[in-house]
Amino acid sequence: MNGGTTLHPKLCARLAALVLSSRCLLVVSSSWRKEPEYMSAFLSKIQSLNVTAPFLAGQTGVIDHVPIMGMMRQLGMFVGDARRDALTCARIQRAQEIQAYLREKDPGHARRWVIVDDLDIGQVSSVAGLEDLELGRTFVKVDPDAGLTEANVEAVRGVMERG
Ligand SMILES: *[C@@H]1O[C@H](CO)[C@@H](O)[C@H](O)[C@H]1NC(C)=O
Repeated sequence: MNGGTTLHPKLCARLAALVLSSRCLLVVSSSWRKEPEYMSAFLSKIQSLNVTAPFLAGQTGVIDHVPIMGMMRQLGMFVGDARRDALTCARIQRAQEIQAYLREKDPGHARRWVIVDDLDIGQVSSVAGLEDLELGRTFVKVDPDAGLTEANVEAVRGVMERG
């Protein structure tokens, strides 16, 4: 669902079909949730495809990236390439935002969850504190150019079925 300002009807329909058929709750974690215009376009599109409350379950919060930069500095994680370092920071930030949501909404870890993102947060699975996301098992990486593919959908179903 990422990759710019355009909502692709086919990808939206695929996402809606996945949510409705698996009866999962959809929580938006993409960076564009911070853009009211994109977010409202997405919400009206997905609602028009019958994904409404309770399946449309909101969005993750926003975590400040400055302390993450500080942690990266402390741990010697900077590689000295501004673009790569910013990407690592963005991945940790995204993972922490998802983790904060899960900790708040599901403190007992009673629910199954699948994380679908085009930011490769699997890359930061070893960062201290992110272990409870179980990224090795729960993360499905989406190609930002392709969006949510049928293969991604199968991967999501696989995670949900394995529990
Ligand atoms: C949404 O639900 C209505 C009422 O059940 C149905 O007629 C319509 O076909 C559904 N639309 C989609 C895209 O599934």
